[in-house]
Amino acid sequence: MEHTHTPVDETTWQELQRAATEALAHSYSPYSNFPVGAAALVSDGRVVTGANIENASYGVTLCAECSLVSDLFMSGGGSLVAFVCVDGNGDVLMPCGRCRQLLYEHRAPDMQLLTVSGVRSMDEVLPDAFGPQNL
Ligand code: THU
Repeated sequence: MEHTHTPVDETTWQELQRAATEALAHSYSPYSNFPVGAAALVSDGRVVTGANIENASYGVTLCAECSLVSDLFMSGGGSLVAFVCVDGNGDVLMPCGRCRQLLYEHRAPDMQLLTVSGVRSMDEVLPDAFGPQNL
């Protein structure tokens, strides 16, 4: 299915949160000691993941969402249908502002995010977003 308009079910959220938690094992976060894992369901049904990869030059750090987007492209492309990221305890974490922009670019039309305040749309977490439509 290229674009699903069905709500993401509870089992899928649980699987994504588990995949994000497993991705924590790949985090390289010796500076912050704050590992982050991310997982997303792609429009064709596969799951992509990411973890934060820090740098001695702190600002060069790649957030978990960066490696997730790389995984998306390197494993065949597509768009993101459902997304979650977690902290080192596996608890749901809000994507940082920059990463909301990253997710916006690669979202499926009705992408959902599991957030600290429940399931939210991209428009709810990044209203009136700047994007390709502005260029
Ligand atoms: N971090 C992410 O990987 N994603 C986010 O959305 C929030 C922040 C990482 C960056 C850094 O390695 C650590 O969390 C502490 O800021």
